[in-house]
Amino acid sequence: MTPGLHPAPTRHAGLVEWVERIAALTRPDRVHWCDGSEAEKQAIIADLVSRGTLRALDPDKRPGSYHAASDPKDVARVESRTFICSRDEIDAGPTNNWADPQEMRGRLEGLFAGCMRGRTMYVVPFCMGPLGSDISALGVEITDSGYVAVSMGVMTRMGAAALEQLGETGTFVPAVHTLGAPLDEGQADVPWPCNDEKWIVHFPETREIWSYGSGYGGNALLGKKCYALRIASVMARDEGWLAEHMLILKLTSPTGAVKYVAAAFPSACGKTNLAMLEPSLEGWKAECVGDDIAWMRIGADGRLYAVNPEAGFFGVAPGTSRNTNRNAVETLSRDVIYTNTALTADGDVWWEGLSKSPPDGLTNWKGQPHDPASGEPAAHPNARFAVAAGQCPAIAPEWEDPKGVPIDAILFGGRRASAVPLVTEAFDWAHGVFMGSTVASEGTAAAENKVGELRRDPFAMLPFCGYNMGDYFAHWLSMAGRTDPAKLPRIFFVNWFRKGADGRFIWPGFGENARVLKWIFERLDDRAAALDTPVGRVPAPGALDVEGLGLSESDLATLLDVDPDVWTEEAAMIPAFYAQFGDRLPGALWDQHAALSARLEDAR
Ligand code: PEP
Ligand code: NA
Ligand code: MN
Repeated sequence: MTPGLHPAPTRHAGLVEWVERIAALTRPDRVHWCDGSEAEKQAIIADLVSRGTLRALDPDKRPGSYHAASDPKDVARVESRTFICSRDEIDAGPTNNWADPQEMRGRLEGLFAGCMRGRTMYVVPFCMGPLGSDISALGVEITDSGYVAVSMGVMTRMGAAALEQLGETGTFVPAVHTLGAPLDEGQADVPWPCNDEKWIVHFPETREIWSYGSGYGGNALLGKKCYALRIASVMARDEGWLAEHMLILKLTSPTGAVKYVAAAFPSACGKTNLAMLEPSLEGWKAECVGDDIAWMRIGADGRLYAVNPEAGFFGVAPGTSRNTNRNAVETLSRDVIYTNTALTADGDVWWEGLSKSPPDGLTNWKGQPHDPASGEPAAHPNARFAVAAGQCPAIAPEWEDPKGVPIDAILFGGRRASAVPLVTEAFDWAHGVFMGSTVASEGTAAAENKVGELRRDPFAMLPFCGYNMGDYFAHWLSMAGRTDPAKLPRIFFVNWFRKGADGRFIWPGFGENARVLKWIFERLDDRAAALDTPVGRVPAPGALDVEGLGLSESDLATLLDVDPDVWTEEAAMIPAFYAQFGDRLPGALWDQHAALSARLEDAR
């Protein structure tokens, strides 16, 4: 046994054996099994404060809150260093980096040998999803970062409760993380240890994660993107469920009727804002179940049930304000770990968008005095907060229900200046899967009704699908055969970002998005009228509640317009995108494309 190996608080022989093996490889000074207690959290935080990793914020302004500033070379997920190491390259697909698993294992053995010298190895058991849920699954992260251990305590159900769920024989996903910054005898630590070389590696067949060199976000908090999306997507394919990059929203109508919506958008499309929406419409209520990830399984009644596998929000701070997301701002009033925001002179945090102009005396995320004239932001654009979801004033009471919540509608969306209507309902499940497969955002500000350069992000899963995306589309299509298709959620495509000829956004967005949700809600009850267009069903004249919005007739017409000529151009771009998947692209999606082209031909 490695010197200092803390007696394991478990009789799970496989777990103990794995921990001993990783300790022997990485040679930490100490091994600490996390129990998830408040006392443990405070002790790790005190250690991080003494190393300069965390700084306590003014407890009168932000009780229980801390600030970390990362190394400037470790500020975001690194997709170029993220690998899916399936046995066969084709199973990683054309959209992931692939490396041969045997070669990669050899490389990792070398990189991890002695990588934790001088540090504590934390063993972090965690449950993704509510404790006791059939939809939930377990993992254990080994990390030499106290910041990661504490953050995992915020983002997951971490510690003794997860270990208890595991029992003596349970299955868990092993995830090994190192900063890649061993300390020699007597060597002083730095506030944000990391390595210039980074590897974020997944072995989908053996359900393993290995992460080297980064301490930031999804690179290091391995329960999130690495497990709950990349590895879980593979588990979901094999077991007949869905692991998706989706928020989960509860909607209550003025009569008290409830529906649940799951929604996938590429980044920078307002996912966290929609997850915490404050409806502008009198009598409507929106509550948050999750803001980033949904695990969904068909229940005994044939409906699709979703849980949020996470216990916290790891959100982008810049742009978050009382105007854009009041619920988020209130969630952030205490017990938050901020990373790469600016610091105020009086011991609080600040970021671009929090207030109109920066307060005097700001320290930027790099620790230097902020110079507003420099044009450099004070907070890093990917500055983050980590906070318990239960603190959100809009959290749905059932957000931790082990049964999950039955999903009535699935929304896809992108940032589209042109072509794409405010809301479109799919004709059926396969058509909805076709919509999801073609999700894209416009890179440049396109002119009205001229399609700009498109960045495809199918199902908003491009960086997160742990296997061949063609097979992923096929898996989505197969869900229709796993239950009565009438019990599956209906699928919609939304676009808050359409622009007028003058280049301004036509739709006000934010709380007014409740108007679109209301139409969707009423569609589900067959109470709202729709018009069939070649691309799907849009609100019939008068069916979308725009009362009091002050939209002109022509703006409303533009929002809902489907121009067959523009869409013929749009449809013509799809084959080049699909072609990369070769014979892994399901024929049913080529059929959808042909059917769309035929409908457009008829309409011209
Ligand atoms: C992350 O980096 O961990 C993360 C949450 O990424 P994103 O916001 O892009 O989903
Ligand atoms: Na990131
Ligand atoms: Mn995300």
